Amino acid sequence: MTFDRSIKIAPSILSADFANFGKEIQSVEAQGADWIHVDVMDGHFVPNLTFGPPLCAAIRPHIKTVMDVHLMIAPVDPYIQAFADAGADILTAHLESGPHVHRTLQAIRAAGCKAGLALNPGTGLEDLPYLLDMIDLVCVMTVNPGFGGQKFIHSQIDKVKRLREMIGDRPIHIEIDGGITPETAPLMTAAGADVLVAGSAVFKGGSVENPAPYGANIRAIRSSIVAA
Ligand code: DX5
Ligand code: ZN
Repeated sequence: MTFDRSIKIAPSILSADFANFGKEIQSVEAQGADWIHVDVMDGHFVPNLTFGPPLCAAIRPHIKTVMDVHLMIAPVDPYIQAFADAGADILTAHLESGPHVHRTLQAIRAAGCKAGLALNPGTGLEDLPYLLDMIDLVCVMTVNPGFGGQKFIHSQIDKVKRLREMIGDRPIHIEIDGGITPETAPLMTAAGADVLVAGSAVFKGGSVENPAPYGANIRAIRSSIVAA
């Protein structure tokens, strides 16, 4: 993975057909996805359950772009090696997932993955100066994690602006996750984001049999940014 700040659209397979992940991934990549975002939930850190390392390993061969794994789990550390072995390119852990996020980030890089740090909407940036040199991505949650299809939280725009200033020239992606649509995407890229996760806004209207709407939905997000 080389670093650049071009705008990347990362469809979340949380909104895909769970019985057809391989085909759904191939379809969204063919329709213009830049990364594939994989939402791992444990029913403990967040009030929902999704999937673990074996599913990630099974879908890995279908991903030609970047496998971006968002860990909404606590604890994180006992599972890092398993997700790295499953082929994750990026492993993102939550700042709120435990008292030793510094150790968690060290372990993610030691396992050979890019390290991401996710922040819930109620979490500030105070701790970031002590972690910036250990991370490759900050994921700003614009919904409370756990479910797709929630409403975008506007207070996070200011957080992203301040984060962008804090990052300066460091090669760190700013990823936005939750409620991204053609209406909200330009607000976030203007604030400094370069990776936009979108679940419902990408998968709506399409299906395994009819994937063309995925392309139209991705293009609608992209052109909203160009137009802004
Ligand atoms: C929420 C997940 C998101 C989610 C986004 O907990 O981390 O990645 O899939 O879904 P939308 O784009 O529908 O808000
Ligand atoms: Zn996510």
